[in-house]
Amino acid sequence: MARHEQPRRPPGPRGRLLTGNTRAYEADRIGFLRRCHRAYGDVFSFDERTVFVIDPDVTHEVLARTGQSFVTELAPFDMRRDLDQAAAQATAWMSARRAAWPGLNRTAVAASDDRTVEILDAVLADGADPEGDVLTTMRVFSARAIADHCFGTDAADVTGLLHDIIRATRPFTDSSYEFPAWLPIPRHRDFFRSYRRLTDGLTGIVRQRRASNAVEPRRDLLGLLLDADPDLPDDTVTSTLHSILMGGHGVPAAALTSVVWELARRPRLVGDLRDEANGPRAASLTPALPLAEAVVRETLRLHPPAWLMTRTARTTAALGDWSVGPGDDVLLNAYLIHRDPRWWQRPDAFDPARWLDGRSAPGAAYLPFGAGPRVCLGSPLALRQLTLATSRIAQRFTIDSPNAASVVPRFVGRLAPAGLRAGFRPVGA
Ligand code: HEM
Repeated sequence: MARHEQPRRPPGPRGRLLTGNTRAYEADRIGFLRRCHRAYGDVFSFDERTVFVIDPDVTHEVLARTGQSFVTELAPFDMRRDLDQAAAQATAWMSARRAAWPGLNRTAVAASDDRTVEILDAVLADGADPEGDVLTTMRVFSARAIADHCFGTDAADVTGLLHDIIRATRPFTDSSYEFPAWLPIPRHRDFFRSYRRLTDGLTGIVRQRRASNAVEPRRDLLGLLLDADPDLPDDTVTSTLHSILMGGHGVPAAALTSVVWELARRPRLVGDLRDEANGPRAASLTPALPLAEAVVRETLRLHPPAWLMTRTARTTAALGDWSVGPGDDVLLNAYLIHRDPRWWQRPDAFDPARWLDGRSAPGAAYLPFGAGPRVCLGSPLALRQLTLATSRIAQRFTIDSPNAASVVPRFVGRLAPAGLRAGFRPVGA
């Protein structure tokens, strides 16, 4: 579609004068979106600048056109919404992404297996208190695991910096209201301070590594990244690591919390996972742990942490029968696609068996890791770490949760059963 054509925006609820649909959406995000879906179909307008998509094929088309008709979410605080700058940054990111791949492909990921299990055991060693906040515990695990994968023995300092920036980012991910970046309000100052501290910390490690690398090549992600493209400038290496650390921390923690939520309500499944972990096939992790992997895939279907993906149109761009114009936001809803009875039998049931014995799910309607050129860079690592962690938790622990039956997942930022409390009691204790 040519750039100058008038967009044909889809219909949608008009909402109230001044506040539009924001209040209804904030009151019950999924309930509101389900109502709109029923009333207006798979593509509907939220306001004059924002369109929701709940159609797998249109979603894949939008994701595939990222970098052409669409750009990914603009950087936090980019209030100017400079689409050309976002596109230029995307080009630089794509080459950094390629350089990082040798450190994130299946072979590199398998090399982290022992460390993943060691880190999980260490984090859960003090986790027997049933009042423990599971999301916090899993954040500690995933921060240590990703820092370790990226920096090996240099990881120790990074974990604290990561927690600090996640804490500083929370006011933004927990709220849908944006203030202009130049406003010197405490949350902005706090965020920029944490951001600088993380950047400085990473830059220090990168410089040190470059100085020592000639003598002693390293097989962690930083080592492999520097090997893949020794000419990458320090700031590109730092910002690539920054993106990987951020992507590899909060989202997997949300996913693992959802796994624990499901297991806490299913002692029989925990027993089956334990049998699998103790069985002969587990001695070598290939062929992996099919039941544990099925539990992870099913959890990501029912509770995709990245439940909403955002793209901004650079040009007038088609969305099925409709279209959007430059600057419009398109919100792609993996959660509702994953629970749509047109694509899934018994869509609201937690049924890991749908992933076993070669039974495969409809491809296009499953996108916990996104799709297209900006598909999750860490999906092999995430699947492997989550599968190992699921199996290990079931093998070693009994989960005691006082509130698993009553927790309501939160759809703010990342989807997670926030507030889930549970203790991990060693089996036999
Ligand atoms: C269960 C765990 C994870 C889930 C569900 C997940 C999901 C996603 C999704 C849906 C996207 C695409 C977002 C979009 O298109 O707007 C994404 C991007 C990304 N993820 Fe993950 N992710 C997970 C774990 C990880 C891990 C462990 C890493 C670190 C290695 C990671 C690094 C990234 C990066 C760097 C991007 C940006 C890719 C780009 O824009 O080119 N993710 N992730």
